[in-house]
Amino acid sequence: MLYRRVLVTMSTKPWGGRFRDEADSGAEQYTASIGFDRRLYRDDIRGSVAHCRMLVRQGIITAHEGDLIEQGLTDVLREIEGGEFSFSPALEDIHMAIEHRLIEKIGPVGGKVHTGRSRNDQVALDVRMFLRREIFDVLNGTAALQRALLEQARRNLHVVMPSYTHLQHAQPILFSHYLMAYFEMLRRDAERLMECRRRVNVMPLGAGAGAGSGFPVDREGVARELGFPRITRNSLDAVSDRDFVCEFCFASAMVMMHLSRLAHDFILWSTEEFGFIELPDPFCTGSSMMPQKKNADVLELVRGRTGRVYGHLVGQLTVLKGLPMTYNRDLQEDKEALFDTVDVVKATVWIMAALVPKIVILEERARRAAGGFSTATDLADYLVERGIPFREAHEIVGRIVRSCLDEGITLMDMPTQRLAQFSEQLGMDAKRALEVDNSLKRRDIPGGTAPSRVQEAITEAERYLEEHLQALRDAGASDECSQRI
Ligand code: ARG
Repeated sequence: MLYRRVLVTMSTKPWGGRFRDEADSGAEQYTASIGFDRRLYRDDIRGSVAHCRMLVRQGIITAHEGDLIEQGLTDVLREIEGGEFSFSPALEDIHMAIEHRLIEKIGPVGGKVHTGRSRNDQVALDVRMFLRREIFDVLNGTAALQRALLEQARRNLHVVMPSYTHLQHAQPILFSHYLMAYFEMLRRDAERLMECRRRVNVMPLGAGAGAGSGFPVDREGVARELGFPRITRNSLDAVSDRDFVCEFCFASAMVMMHLSRLAHDFILWSTEEFGFIELPDPFCTGSSMMPQKKNADVLELVRGRTGRVYGHLVGQLTVLKGLPMTYNRDLQEDKEALFDTVDVVKATVWIMAALVPKIVILEERARRAAGGFSTATDLADYLVERGIPFREAHEIVGRIVRSCLDEGITLMDMPTQRLAQFSEQLGMDAKRALEVDNSLKRRDIPGGTAPSRVQEAITEAERYLEEHLQALRDAGASDECSQRI
Protein backbone atom coordinates (compact mmCIF):
# COMPACT_ATOMS: atom_id res chain seq x y z
CA MET A 1 0.00 0.00 0.00
CA LEU A 2 2.74 2.37 1.05
CA TYR A 3 4.61 1.61 -2.12
CA ARG A 4 1.79 1.79 -4.57
CA ARG A 5 2.65 5.37 -5.57
CA VAL A 6 6.25 4.51 -6.35
CA LEU A 7 5.09 1.81 -8.71
CA VAL A 8 2.53 3.88 -10.53
CA THR A 9 5.08 6.53 -11.35
CA MET A 10 7.39 3.72 -12.53
CA SER A 11 4.62 2.37 -14.84
CA THR A 12 2.66 -0.77 -14.03
CA LYS A 13 4.66 -2.83 -16.52
CA PRO A 14 8.04 -4.13 -15.51
CA TRP A 15 9.14 -3.33 -19.03
CA GLY A 16 7.32 0.04 -19.10
CA GLY A 17 10.53 2.11 -19.13
CA ARG A 18 11.12 1.80 -22.85
CA PHE A 19 7.58 2.62 -23.87
CA ARG A 20 6.07 6.00 -24.65
CA ASP A 21 2.42 4.95 -24.95
CA GLU A 22 0.23 2.88 -22.70
CA ALA A 23 -0.74 -0.62 -23.84
CA ASP A 24 -3.93 -1.03 -25.86
CA SER A 25 -6.43 -2.75 -23.62
CA GLY A 26 -7.45 -5.16 -26.38
CA ALA A 27 -3.81 -6.09 -26.93
CA GLU A 28 -3.38 -6.51 -23.21
CA GLN A 29 -6.26 -8.93 -23.05
CA TYR A 30 -5.15 -10.73 -26.17
CA THR A 31 -1.67 -11.39 -24.83
CA ALA A 32 -2.53 -12.03 -21.19
CA SER A 33 -2.00 -15.54 -19.92
CA ILE A 34 -2.83 -14.92 -16.29
CA GLY A 35 -6.30 -16.38 -16.78
CA PHE A 36 -4.72 -19.82 -17.09
CA ASP A 37 -1.08 -19.64 -15.99
CA ARG A 38 -2.19 -18.63 -12.50
CA ARG A 39 -2.24 -22.34 -12.01
CA LEU A 40 1.56 -22.15 -11.81
CA TYR A 41 1.61 -19.78 -8.82
CA ARG A 42 3.01 -22.25 -6.29
CA ASP A 43 5.80 -23.40 -8.56
CA ASP A 44 6.56 -19.82 -9.52
CA ILE A 45 6.94 -18.79 -5.88
CA ARG A 46 8.98 -21.86 -4.97
CA GLY A 47 11.27 -21.20 -7.90
CA SER A 48 11.66 -17.55 -6.90
CA VAL A 49 12.48 -18.44 -3.31
CA ALA A 50 15.18 -20.88 -4.42
CA HIS A 51 16.56 -18.30 -6.85
CA CYS A 52 16.59 -15.62 -4.15
CA ARG A 53 18.37 -17.86 -1.62
CA MET A 54 20.99 -18.56 -4.24
CA LEU A 55 21.41 -14.82 -4.96
CA VAL A 56 22.17 -14.35 -1.25
CA ARG A 57 24.62 -17.27 -1.15
CA GLN A 58 26.43 -15.86 -4.14
CA GLY A 59 26.62 -12.38 -2.60
CA ILE A 60 24.53 -10.92 -5.43
CA ILE A 61 21.94 -9.53 -3.00
CA THR A 62 22.33 -9.10 0.77
CA ALA A 63 20.98 -11.52 3.34
CA HIS A 64 18.62 -8.82 4.58
CA GLU A 65 17.24 -8.25 1.08
CA GLY A 66 16.90 -12.00 0.69
CA ASP A 67 14.92 -12.24 3.93
CA LEU A 68 12.58 -9.46 2.89
CA ILE A 69 11.96 -11.07 -0.49
CA GLU A 70 11.42 -14.53 0.91
CA GLN A 71 9.04 -13.26 3.56
CA GLY A 72 7.20 -11.19 0.95
CA LEU A 73 6.85 -14.17 -1.37
CA THR A 74 5.54 -16.30 1.46
CA ASP A 75 2.94 -13.63 2.17
CA VAL A 76 1.94 -13.49 -1.49
CA LEU A 77 1.57 -17.27 -1.49
CA ARG A 78 -0.68 -17.03 1.54
CA GLU A 79 -2.76 -14.33 -0.15
CA ILE A 80 -3.24 -16.44 -3.26
CA GLU A 81 -4.16 -19.52 -1.27
CA GLY A 82 -6.52 -17.47 0.88
CA GLY A 83 -8.28 -16.18 -2.23
CA GLU A 84 -7.30 -12.57 -1.53
CA PHE A 85 -5.08 -12.07 -4.56
CA SER A 86 -6.33 -10.12 -7.54
CA PHE A 87 -5.31 -11.61 -10.87
CA SER A 88 -5.48 -8.56 -13.12
CA PRO A 89 -5.02 -9.12 -16.87
CA ALA A 90 -3.07 -5.86 -16.95
CA LEU A 91 -0.29 -7.78 -15.21
CA GLU A 92 -0.09 -10.15 -18.16
CA ASP A 93 1.03 -13.34 -16.52
CA ILE A 94 1.45 -15.02 -13.15
CA HIS A 95 5.16 -14.19 -13.00
CA MET A 96 4.58 -10.46 -13.33
CA ALA A 97 1.54 -10.53 -11.07
CA ILE A 98 3.49 -12.13 -8.24
CA GLU A 99 6.48 -9.83 -8.67
CA HIS A 100 4.20 -6.79 -8.82
CA ARG A 101 2.46 -7.79 -5.60
CA LEU A 102 5.81 -8.51 -3.95
CA ILE A 103 7.01 -4.98 -4.76
CA GLU A 104 3.74 -3.55 -3.51
CA LYS A 105 4.29 -5.33 -0.23
CA ILE A 106 8.00 -4.88 0.43
CA GLY A 107 8.90 -1.98 -1.79
CA PRO A 108 11.43 -1.62 -4.62
CA VAL A 109 13.76 -4.17 -3.05
CA GLY A 110 11.22 -6.74 -4.31
CA GLY A 111 12.45 -5.93 -7.80
CA LYS A 112 15.76 -7.60 -6.93
CA VAL A 113 14.17 -11.04 -7.08
CA HIS A 114 14.45 -10.91 -10.86
CA THR A 115 18.23 -10.33 -10.79
CA GLY A 116 20.00 -12.67 -13.19
CA ARG A 117 16.75 -14.18 -14.38
CA SER A 118 14.30 -13.69 -17.25
CA ARG A 119 10.71 -14.75 -17.58
CA ASN A 120 11.95 -17.00 -20.35
CA ASP A 121 13.87 -19.29 -18.01
CA GLN A 122 11.39 -18.65 -15.20
CA VAL A 123 8.40 -19.93 -17.16
CA ALA A 124 10.36 -22.96 -18.34
CA LEU A 125 11.16 -23.74 -14.71
CA ASP A 126 7.57 -23.32 -13.57
CA VAL A 127 6.15 -25.57 -16.26
CA ARG A 128 8.74 -28.25 -15.51
CA MET A 129 7.98 -28.16 -11.79
CA PHE A 130 4.28 -28.31 -12.45
CA LEU A 131 4.54 -31.16 -14.91
CA ARG A 132 6.87 -33.41 -12.95
CA ARG A 133 4.34 -33.36 -10.12
CA GLU A 134 1.35 -33.92 -12.39
CA ILE A 135 3.04 -36.86 -14.06
CA PHE A 136 3.02 -38.57 -10.67
CA ASP A 137 -0.68 -38.00 -10.36
CA VAL A 138 -1.24 -39.55 -13.77
CA LEU A 139 1.03 -42.46 -12.83
CA ASN A 140 -0.86 -43.06 -9.61
CA GLY A 141 -4.04 -43.16 -11.66
CA THR A 142 -2.64 -45.61 -14.20
CA ALA A 143 -1.42 -47.79 -11.33
CA ALA A 144 -4.89 -47.71 -9.73
CA LEU A 145 -6.38 -48.80 -13.02
CA GLN A 146 -3.81 -51.57 -13.34
CA ARG A 147 -4.77 -52.77 -9.89
CA ALA A 148 -8.45 -52.77 -10.88
CA LEU A 149 -7.69 -54.82 -14.00
CA LEU A 150 -5.63 -57.25 -11.95
CA GLU A 151 -8.37 -57.74 -9.40
CA GLN A 152 -10.96 -58.44 -12.07
CA ALA A 153 -8.53 -60.80 -13.78
CA ARG A 154 -7.92 -62.73 -10.58
CA ARG A 155 -11.60 -62.86 -9.68
CA ASN A 156 -12.63 -64.13 -13.13
CA LEU A 157 -9.89 -66.60 -13.90
CA HIS A 158 -12.43 -69.26 -14.89
CA VAL A 159 -14.35 -67.11 -17.37
CA VAL A 160 -13.99 -68.00 -21.03
CA MET A 161 -14.81 -65.80 -23.98
CA PRO A 162 -14.05 -65.69 -27.69
CA SER A 163 -11.15 -63.63 -28.92
CA TYR A 164 -11.74 -61.67 -32.10
CA THR A 165 -9.81 -60.68 -35.15
CA HIS A 166 -11.61 -58.47 -37.66
CA LEU A 167 -14.41 -58.59 -35.07
CA GLN A 168 -15.04 -62.18 -36.16
CA HIS A 169 -14.79 -65.06 -33.71
CA ALA A 170 -11.18 -66.18 -33.59
CA GLN A 171 -10.23 -68.51 -30.71
CA PRO A 172 -11.35 -69.05 -27.12
CA ILE A 173 -9.44 -67.10 -24.48
CA LEU A 174 -9.72 -66.43 -20.80
CA PHE A 175 -11.43 -63.16 -19.99
CA SER A 176 -8.53 -62.54 -17.60
CA HIS A 177 -6.08 -62.87 -20.46
CA TYR A 178 -7.94 -60.11 -22.24
CA LEU A 179 -7.82 -57.87 -19.15
CA MET A 180 -4.11 -58.51 -18.73
CA ALA A 181 -3.52 -57.29 -22.28
CA TYR A 182 -4.64 -53.86 -21.06
CA PHE A 183 -2.44 -54.21 -18.03
CA GLU A 184 0.50 -54.56 -20.41
CA MET A 185 -0.49 -51.48 -22.41
CA LEU A 186 -0.61 -49.48 -19.20
CA ARG A 187 2.75 -50.85 -18.13
CA ARG A 188 4.27 -49.41 -21.30
CA ASP A 189 2.37 -46.17 -20.75
CA ALA A 190 3.81 -45.88 -17.26
CA GLU A 191 7.31 -46.54 -18.58
CA ARG A 192 6.83 -43.83 -21.17
CA LEU A 193 5.60 -41.36 -18.56
CA MET A 194 8.53 -42.14 -16.25
CA GLU A 195 10.93 -41.71 -19.15
CA CYS A 196 9.26 -38.44 -20.14
CA ARG A 197 9.49 -37.29 -16.54
CA ARG A 198 13.24 -37.75 -16.60
CA ARG A 199 13.45 -35.14 -19.34
CA VAL A 200 10.95 -32.86 -17.62
CA ASN A 201 13.01 -32.99 -14.44
CA VAL A 202 15.84 -30.75 -15.67
CA MET A 203 16.48 -27.29 -14.20
CA PRO A 204 16.59 -24.44 -16.76
CA LEU A 205 17.10 -21.39 -14.50
CA GLY A 206 20.28 -19.49 -15.30
CA ALA A 207 19.56 -19.52 -19.02
CA GLY A 208 18.19 -15.99 -18.57
CA ALA A 209 16.58 -14.61 -21.67
CA GLY A 210 18.53 -17.11 -23.75
CA ALA A 211 22.21 -16.20 -23.69
CA GLY A 212 22.68 -17.20 -20.06
CA SER A 213 22.64 -15.11 -16.91
CA GLY A 214 25.25 -12.34 -16.65
CA PHE A 215 25.53 -12.91 -12.88
CA PRO A 216 27.55 -15.70 -11.27
CA VAL A 217 24.43 -17.72 -10.48
CA ASP A 218 24.85 -21.14 -8.90
CA ARG A 219 22.67 -23.26 -11.12
CA GLU A 220 23.53 -26.56 -9.47
CA GLY A 221 22.63 -25.10 -6.08
CA VAL A 222 19.20 -24.01 -7.31
CA ALA A 223 18.67 -27.43 -8.89
CA ARG A 224 19.54 -29.15 -5.61
CA GLU A 225 17.25 -26.92 -3.63
CA LEU A 226 14.35 -27.62 -5.99
CA GLY A 227 15.04 -31.34 -6.20
CA PHE A 228 16.18 -31.41 -9.83
CA PRO A 229 18.80 -34.07 -10.55
CA ARG A 230 20.15 -32.21 -13.58
CA ILE A 231 20.47 -28.76 -15.14
CA THR A 232 19.98 -27.87 -18.80
CA ARG A 233 23.19 -27.83 -20.84
CA ASN A 234 22.54 -25.04 -23.31
CA SER A 235 20.91 -21.74 -22.44
CA LEU A 236 19.34 -21.23 -25.88
CA ASP A 237 17.84 -24.68 -25.81
CA ALA A 238 16.70 -24.18 -22.21
CA VAL A 239 14.38 -21.29 -23.06
CA SER A 240 13.04 -22.60 -26.34
CA ASP A 241 12.68 -26.30 -25.56
CA ARG A 242 9.15 -27.61 -25.19
CA ASP A 243 9.99 -31.16 -26.22
CA PHE A 244 9.04 -32.32 -22.77
CA VAL A 245 5.55 -30.84 -23.22
CA CYS A 246 5.14 -32.64 -26.55
CA GLU A 247 6.42 -35.86 -25.03
CA PHE A 248 3.94 -35.65 -22.22
CA CYS A 249 1.14 -34.95 -24.69
CA PHE A 250 2.21 -37.95 -26.72
CA ALA A 251 2.44 -40.25 -23.69
CA SER A 252 -1.02 -39.00 -22.69
CA ALA A 253 -2.42 -39.50 -26.18
CA MET A 254 -1.21 -43.09 -25.99
CA VAL A 255 -2.84 -43.64 -22.59
CA MET A 256 -6.06 -42.19 -23.96
CA MET A 257 -5.89 -44.34 -27.07
CA HIS A 258 -5.56 -47.47 -24.94
CA LEU A 259 -8.42 -46.45 -22.69
CA SER A 260 -10.52 -45.52 -25.67
CA ARG A 261 -10.11 -49.04 -27.04
CA LEU A 262 -10.96 -50.54 -23.67
CA ALA A 263 -13.98 -48.26 -23.43
CA HIS A 264 -15.10 -49.25 -26.89
CA ASP A 265 -14.80 -52.97 -26.13
CA PHE A 266 -16.89 -52.53 -23.01
CA ILE A 267 -19.50 -50.51 -24.89
CA LEU A 268 -19.75 -53.23 -27.50
CA TRP A 269 -19.84 -56.09 -25.02
CA SER A 270 -22.54 -54.50 -22.96
CA THR A 271 -24.97 -54.45 -25.91
CA GLU A 272 -27.90 -56.86 -26.21
CA GLU A 273 -26.12 -58.44 -29.13
CA PHE A 274 -22.96 -59.36 -27.23
CA GLY A 275 -24.12 -59.36 -23.62
CA PHE A 276 -20.76 -60.39 -22.16
CA ILE A 277 -20.75 -57.77 -19.45
CA GLU A 278 -23.06 -55.54 -17.53
CA LEU A 279 -21.95 -51.98 -16.91
CA PRO A 280 -22.43 -50.51 -13.43
CA ASP A 281 -25.53 -48.29 -13.22
CA PRO A 282 -23.73 -45.40 -11.50
CA PHE A 283 -21.52 -45.01 -14.58
CA CYS A 284 -24.34 -44.99 -17.10
CA THR A 285 -27.19 -42.67 -17.93
CA GLY A 286 -30.74 -43.18 -19.17
CA SER A 287 -32.55 -41.74 -22.13
CA SER A 288 -35.00 -38.89 -21.66
CA MET A 289 -37.30 -40.57 -24.16
CA MET A 290 -36.72 -44.33 -24.28
CA PRO A 291 -37.32 -45.88 -20.87
CA GLN A 292 -35.44 -49.11 -21.61
CA LYS A 293 -32.10 -47.43 -22.33
CA LYS A 294 -28.95 -47.60 -20.32
CA ASN A 295 -26.26 -45.65 -22.08
CA ALA A 296 -22.53 -46.01 -21.56
CA ASP A 297 -21.89 -42.27 -21.44
CA VAL A 298 -18.75 -42.40 -19.29
CA LEU A 299 -17.12 -44.83 -21.67
CA GLU A 300 -18.26 -42.83 -24.68
CA LEU A 301 -16.65 -39.73 -23.22
CA VAL A 302 -13.43 -41.59 -22.58
CA ARG A 303 -13.44 -42.42 -26.27
CA GLY A 304 -14.50 -38.90 -27.26
CA ARG A 305 -11.95 -37.07 -25.13
CA THR A 306 -9.19 -39.07 -26.72
CA GLY A 307 -9.70 -36.96 -29.81
CA ARG A 308 -9.27 -33.83 -27.74
CA VAL A 309 -5.92 -35.01 -26.37
CA TYR A 310 -4.68 -35.95 -29.86
CA GLY A 311 -5.60 -32.41 -30.86
CA HIS A 312 -3.40 -30.99 -28.12
CA LEU A 313 -0.43 -33.05 -29.26
CA VAL A 314 -0.77 -31.88 -32.84
CA GLY A 315 -1.35 -28.35 -31.57
CA GLN A 316 1.89 -28.33 -29.57
CA LEU A 317 3.94 -29.71 -32.42
CA THR A 318 2.45 -27.17 -34.78
CA VAL A 319 3.20 -24.25 -32.47
CA LEU A 320 6.84 -25.32 -32.37
CA LYS A 321 7.43 -25.97 -36.04
CA GLY A 322 8.96 -22.99 -37.72
CA LEU A 323 9.65 -21.07 -34.49
CA PRO A 324 12.84 -19.08 -34.80
CA MET A 325 15.30 -19.59 -31.96
CA THR A 326 14.82 -18.89 -29.12
CA TYR A 327 11.88 -17.72 -27.05
CA ASN A 328 8.85 -16.41 -28.92
CA ARG A 329 5.55 -15.56 -27.40
CA ASP A 330 4.02 -18.42 -29.37
CA LEU A 331 5.43 -20.63 -26.65
CA GLN A 332 2.83 -19.30 -24.25
CA GLU A 333 0.37 -21.44 -26.23
CA ASP A 334 1.84 -24.55 -24.61
CA LYS A 335 -0.06 -24.02 -21.40
CA GLU A 336 -3.77 -24.34 -22.04
CA ALA A 337 -3.21 -27.44 -24.12
CA LEU A 338 -0.90 -28.91 -21.51
CA PHE A 339 -3.23 -28.14 -18.62
CA ASP A 340 -6.19 -29.62 -20.45
CA THR A 341 -4.19 -32.73 -21.35
CA VAL A 342 -3.23 -33.18 -17.71
CA ASP A 343 -6.82 -32.72 -16.56
CA VAL A 344 -8.34 -35.05 -19.13
CA VAL A 345 -5.84 -37.88 -18.79
CA LYS A 346 -5.95 -37.75 -15.00
CA ALA A 347 -9.73 -37.71 -14.83
CA THR A 348 -9.87 -40.53 -17.37
CA VAL A 349 -7.49 -42.94 -15.66
CA TRP A 350 -9.23 -42.38 -12.34
CA ILE A 351 -12.76 -42.82 -13.66
CA MET A 352 -11.72 -46.02 -15.41
CA ALA A 353 -10.06 -47.21 -12.20
CA ALA A 354 -13.40 -46.67 -10.45
CA LEU A 355 -15.51 -48.28 -13.18
CA VAL A 356 -13.51 -51.42 -14.01
CA PRO A 357 -13.97 -53.17 -10.64
CA LYS A 358 -17.74 -52.72 -10.89
CA ILE A 359 -18.19 -54.43 -14.22
CA VAL A 360 -20.17 -57.65 -13.95
CA ILE A 361 -19.16 -60.42 -16.30
CA LEU A 362 -21.97 -62.49 -17.72
CA GLU A 363 -20.11 -65.72 -17.70
CA GLU A 364 -22.66 -67.95 -19.39
CA ARG A 365 -23.11 -65.73 -22.42
CA ALA A 366 -19.39 -65.27 -22.84
CA ARG A 367 -18.68 -69.00 -22.66
CA ARG A 368 -21.49 -69.80 -25.07
CA ALA A 369 -20.09 -67.32 -27.57
CA ALA A 370 -16.70 -68.99 -27.26
CA GLY A 371 -18.17 -72.23 -28.64
CA GLY A 372 -19.28 -72.45 -32.25
CA PHE A 373 -16.39 -72.45 -34.67
CA SER A 374 -13.75 -70.82 -32.52
CA THR A 375 -11.93 -74.11 -31.95
CA ALA A 376 -11.58 -74.89 -35.67
CA THR A 377 -7.85 -74.17 -35.45
CA ASP A 378 -7.59 -76.79 -32.72
CA LEU A 379 -9.08 -79.40 -35.05
CA ALA A 380 -6.50 -78.45 -37.69
CA ASP A 381 -3.76 -78.72 -35.04
CA TYR A 382 -5.08 -82.18 -34.17
CA LEU A 383 -4.52 -83.24 -37.78
CA VAL A 384 -1.05 -81.65 -37.82
CA GLU A 385 -0.15 -83.74 -34.79
CA ARG A 386 -1.08 -86.77 -36.88
CA GLY A 387 1.41 -85.83 -39.56
CA ILE A 388 -0.73 -83.80 -41.95
CA PRO A 389 0.93 -80.57 -43.16
CA PHE A 390 -0.80 -77.53 -41.67
CA ARG A 391 -1.94 -76.17 -45.06
CA GLU A 392 -3.71 -79.43 -45.84
CA ALA A 393 -5.19 -79.65 -42.36
CA HIS A 394 -6.50 -76.11 -42.79
CA GLU A 395 -8.14 -77.10 -46.06
CA ILE A 396 -9.77 -80.19 -44.55
CA VAL A 397 -11.19 -78.32 -41.56
CA GLY A 398 -12.31 -75.55 -43.90
CA ARG A 399 -14.40 -78.09 -45.80
CA ILE A 400 -15.88 -79.41 -42.55
CA VAL A 401 -16.79 -75.85 -41.50
CA ARG A 402 -18.38 -75.24 -44.89
CA SER A 403 -20.59 -78.28 -44.60
CA CYS A 404 -21.57 -77.41 -41.01
CA LEU A 405 -22.58 -73.97 -42.22
CA ASP A 406 -24.63 -75.49 -45.01
CA GLU A 407 -26.44 -77.68 -42.52
CA GLY A 408 -26.79 -74.98 -39.90
CA ILE A 409 -24.88 -76.94 -37.24
CA THR A 410 -21.64 -76.32 -35.32
CA LEU A 411 -18.47 -78.42 -35.37
CA MET A 412 -19.43 -80.00 -32.07
CA ASP A 413 -22.77 -81.12 -33.55
CA MET A 414 -21.13 -83.11 -36.31
CA PRO A 415 -21.01 -86.84 -35.49
CA THR A 416 -17.52 -88.33 -35.19
CA GLN A 417 -18.17 -90.80 -38.03
CA ARG A 418 -18.99 -87.97 -40.38
CA LEU A 419 -15.84 -86.15 -39.39
CA ALA A 420 -13.85 -89.23 -40.35
CA GLN A 421 -15.20 -88.92 -43.90
CA PHE A 422 -13.20 -85.72 -44.36
CA SER A 423 -9.94 -87.36 -43.29
CA GLU A 424 -9.06 -90.81 -42.08
CA GLN A 425 -6.82 -89.13 -39.52
CA LEU A 426 -9.87 -87.75 -37.75
CA GLY A 427 -10.27 -90.45 -35.10
CA MET A 428 -12.68 -91.08 -32.28
CA ASP A 429 -10.94 -88.55 -30.04
CA ALA A 430 -11.02 -85.74 -32.65
CA LYS A 431 -13.89 -83.97 -30.98
CA ARG A 432 -11.95 -83.58 -27.77
CA ALA A 433 -9.79 -81.10 -29.67
CA LEU A 434 -12.90 -79.02 -30.21
CA GLU A 435 -13.57 -78.58 -26.51
CA VAL A 436 -13.02 -75.03 -25.38
CA ASP A 437 -11.16 -75.99 -22.21
CA ASN A 438 -8.77 -78.18 -24.17
CA SER A 439 -8.18 -75.38 -26.62
CA LEU A 440 -7.23 -73.10 -23.73
CA LYS A 441 -4.96 -75.65 -22.09
CA ARG A 442 -3.02 -76.19 -25.30
CA ARG A 443 -1.91 -72.55 -25.32
CA ASP A 444 0.56 -73.31 -22.62
CA ILE A 445 3.44 -71.10 -23.68
CA PRO A 446 4.77 -67.87 -22.16
CA GLY A 447 2.26 -65.15 -22.97
CA GLY A 448 -0.45 -67.69 -23.85
CA THR A 449 -4.01 -67.99 -22.58
CA ALA A 450 -3.67 -71.39 -20.83
CA PRO A 451 -5.08 -70.91 -17.30
CA SER A 452 -1.73 -71.73 -15.68
CA ARG A 453 0.01 -69.12 -17.84
CA VAL A 454 -2.56 -66.45 -17.11
CA GLN A 455 -2.26 -67.23 -13.42
CA GLU A 456 1.51 -66.83 -13.77
CA ALA A 457 1.08 -63.51 -15.60
CA ILE A 458 -1.18 -62.21 -12.85
CA THR A 459 1.33 -63.14 -10.17
CA GLU A 460 4.15 -61.44 -12.06
CA ALA A 461 1.98 -58.37 -12.61
CA GLU A 462 1.17 -58.13 -8.92
CA ARG A 463 4.86 -58.17 -8.08
CA TYR A 464 5.60 -55.57 -10.74
CA LEU A 465 2.82 -53.28 -9.52
CA GLU A 466 4.12 -53.33 -5.94
CA GLU A 467 7.62 -52.42 -7.12
CA HIS A 468 6.31 -49.74 -9.45
CA LEU A 469 4.23 -48.14 -6.69
CA GLN A 470 7.24 -48.18 -4.36
CA ALA A 471 9.35 -46.47 -7.04
CA LEU A 472 6.64 -43.83 -7.40
CA ARG A 473 6.51 -43.26 -3.66
CA ASP A 474 10.30 -42.91 -3.46
CA ALA A 475 10.53 -40.48 -6.35
CA GLY A 476 7.52 -38.54 -5.04
CA ALA A 477 9.11 -38.26 -1.62
CA SER A 478 12.32 -36.85 -3.05
CA ASP A 479 10.27 -34.21 -4.87
CA GLU A 480 8.26 -33.48 -1.74
CA CYS A 481 11.28 -32.63 0.37
CA SER A 482 12.26 -30.08 -2.25
CA GLN A 483 8.83 -28.52 -2.21
CA ARG A 484 8.97 -26.72 1.09
CA ILE A 485 9.81 -23.06 0.69
N1 ARG B 1 3.60 -15.69 -20.20
C1 ARG B 1 4.80 -16.02 -20.88
C2 ARG B 1 4.72 -17.50 -21.37
O1 ARG B 1 3.92 -18.19 -20.88
C3 ARG B 1 5.96 -15.89 -19.98
C4 ARG B 1 7.25 -15.57 -20.67
C5 ARG B 1 7.19 -14.26 -21.26
N2 ARG B 1 8.45 -13.88 -21.81
C6 ARG B 1 8.55 -12.89 -22.71
N3 ARG B 1 9.71 -12.64 -23.17
N4 ARG B 1 7.50 -12.23 -23.11
O2 ARG B 1 5.47 -17.91 -22.22
